Amino acid sequence: MKRILLTGAVAFLLISWKPIPPIITIDGYTFRDLNGNGKLDRYEDERLSVDDRIDDLISKMTDDEKAGLLIGTGMPGFNGLTPVAGAIEGKVPGAAGGTCAIPRLGIPEVIVADGPAGLRIKPIRKDAKGTFYCTAFPVGTALASTWNTSLLEEVGKAMGQEVKEYGVDALLAPALNIMRNPLCGRNFEYYSEDPLIAGKMAVAIVNGVQSNGVGTSIKHYAANNQETNRLSINEHIDERTMREIYLRGFEIAVKESQPWTVMSSYNLINGTYTSARKDLLTDILRDEWGFKGMVMTDWFGGYAGFAALQGGTSNVVQQLSAGNDLLMPGLPAQKKAILDGMKDGSLPKEVVNTDLRRILTFVLRSPAMAKYAYSNHPDLKGHANITRRAAAEGMVLLKNDGQLLPYTNQTKEIATFGVTSYNFIAGGTGSGDVNEAYTVSLIDGLSNAGYKVDQELKKLYVPYVKHALYQDSLRRAKEGLLALPERMKEMNVDKALVDKKAASAALAIITIGRNSGEGGDRKVNEDFNLAADEVALIENVTAAFHAKGKKVVVILNIGGVIETASWKDKPDAILLSWQPGQEGGNSVADIFSGQVNPSGRLTMTFPVKYEETPSAKNWLGTPADNPTDVTYEEGIYVGYRYFNTKNIPVSYPFGFGGSYTTFAYSDLKVDKDKLTVAVTVKNTGRVAGKEVVQLYLAAPHNTIDKPAAELKAFAKTKVLKPGEREVLTLQLQTRDLASFIEAQQAWVAEPGKYTVKIGSSSLDIHQQADFTLDDALIVEKVHKAFEK
Ligand code: BGC
Repeated sequence: MKRILLTGAVAFLLISWKPIPPIITIDGYTFRDLNGNGKLDRYEDERLSVDDRIDDLISKMTDDEKAGLLIGTGMPGFNGLTPVAGAIEGKVPGAAGGTCAIPRLGIPEVIVADGPAGLRIKPIRKDAKGTFYCTAFPVGTALASTWNTSLLEEVGKAMGQEVKEYGVDALLAPALNIMRNPLCGRNFEYYSEDPLIAGKMAVAIVNGVQSNGVGTSIKHYAANNQETNRLSINEHIDERTMREIYLRGFEIAVKESQPWTVMSSYNLINGTYTSARKDLLTDILRDEWGFKGMVMTDWFGGYAGFAALQGGTSNVVQQLSAGNDLLMPGLPAQKKAILDGMKDGSLPKEVVNTDLRRILTFVLRSPAMAKYAYSNHPDLKGHANITRRAAAEGMVLLKNDGQLLPYTNQTKEIATFGVTSYNFIAGGTGSGDVNEAYTVSLIDGLSNAGYKVDQELKKLYVPYVKHALYQDSLRRAKEGLLALPERMKEMNVDKALVDKKAASAALAIITIGRNSGEGGDRKVNEDFNLAADEVALIENVTAAFHAKGKKVVVILNIGGVIETASWKDKPDAILLSWQPGQEGGNSVADIFSGQVNPSGRLTMTFPVKYEETPSAKNWLGTPADNPTDVTYEEGIYVGYRYFNTKNIPVSYPFGFGGSYTTFAYSDLKVDKDKLTVAVTVKNTGRVAGKEVVQLYLAAPHNTIDKPAAELKAFAKTKVLKPGEREVLTLQLQTRDLASFIEAQQAWVAEPGKYTVKIGSSSLDIHQQADFTLDDALIVEKVHKAFEK
């Protein structure tokens, strides 16, 4: 035991001791002598191109160093998995991983950490003073619901500042998988059922984060749409569906923001792991889209399950040859397989060098390489303000009968029901979670804003919630790292108490909460559908308050779509707050009071019934008890592309969201040659507000079928004062007219009539205009991909 401790301490000292490379001047040129040989080596010469420097660096590396750099440093403390013994905790505790240092050449370890709602690191360190909390921003879905790319860029900038000031080099975000089905346990991390929204939001976050000089990793590339058997699920998807739906967002993100890295996903597509698919990682990502960065696997990607980690290797040669440069988090068995492959020639030198070149490009541009003196003091105060604003802007007003909201009565008490009112959910669990210093609950937010919250209810709810949280913490400790969240049952509030509150309070609020996380999908019963205790709460409270002529607001503090059709007529107002980050309660209060006029819009459809979801029939795959294969039978008809084309009534359509004011649309002008669309929006109500202008395009379908209309552009107005107007100009690309026609292996705009529809949701179109394309346009020919 003693020996182990001693070895551990020595190892720690060795790892943490990093000589500062001497600064030397030779012939008037000052440089860092990274290898300490007193000479100017080519790779140390920052006047040379990165490629030249890397050539020199690779030539100086031993095979062992090369193999070491192709895998990460391991994942310490990953619950009892023996193969990761020997993994090192990098310089930033709680970060997900890093690349290996080569101390003799002065190459540092480069640190990567999650995730989409903000940086995830350990907030408390044993031997360090102070704390290392990060800002919990709204989850991806909430961010996307703003439809405001400049706001997201601001959020990204703030996230990136935390990344940089805590000594991390790249953020493992954004996550932009398509919400194929409302039950996916990670939907809260993702943006939309629509690839344009997914792509544009990702662009904004990447640009914001990377403006700090740190990297991002857009993930999970591609089609990581379910958590059930995520390490081994084989997805059967046709090429058109891949290109139009599951890749399109990544394509936009790569072309418009050049993320430093891409993370391949866990799943297989048509029989091959995504991390081993050359068509995906090289032909499409690099040759077609021009990606310049590095690809890393998701953690243990390519292993069929955690059991397979015990000594086994992923197919490293196939992964590295496909263009997956870095294997994360890195396992000793993988290093051995790489060295064997290098020796017997099955892993060609060119492949090794190509992958190394991309990893080294990443390393050379990192703050670690520049020895950036991070402060461990990011601007947490400033970021709390940003997350508060972003969360409020992402909230969607689903219902507001009789203009109940904004609600300004601060003299009379509000009766606040529902356990989640007292335990607001900032974000989901797993790697998309953030270790924040605090979360503002709904009642705290309301109190901060000057509202009177009923104290009797508070006194009953607070201990109930505290006890339930304690019980839950015991369960989670037992289940370990990937323990999934469980719904907290509603406290029983008897009729007498509800009646009493209906008599004394001026208004009732009921909060319905949902949480989910990595490693598991949601269920239909008591998750998508409300549980009996929640239905009873809504029924009892609305009946009692309405009997007294008083109103009820429901707040949905959820990370994914739930059933609303059966109960939405009961409350007077419904505010979808999503999981709004650490300032959540304050953000809700901002909407509640009218400080902020809601301008969030749905980025997915709320169906009437789960069973009507297009992928409901084949969700998770077969065999049902332990799926190995899933066929995407619905093809491109995901979300509104299905509901709106087949005219299936929904509870809330894609793009929907209310406001405290009204807008009028006029003067639609379509310039067919420049592909610009201009429209005037006027605030016709009595308070200032922002509107989201959505452009849907209906295209001719001569040879293939197409959705009724697809979102092709959107823009958000500035804050328009009552009576104020703004002309918005939306730009289309020829590619936006095209669909992928497999028979031609190309994106083709078919000849015929195109209809531009401008709406405030996918079903609420205010202005439309047609134009005609006389001849077919082959917009882009591409590689054949996704064959079995
Ligand atoms: C998740 C990734 C995450 C990685 C590192 C994986 O389990 O799927 O999204 O970035 O872990 O924490």
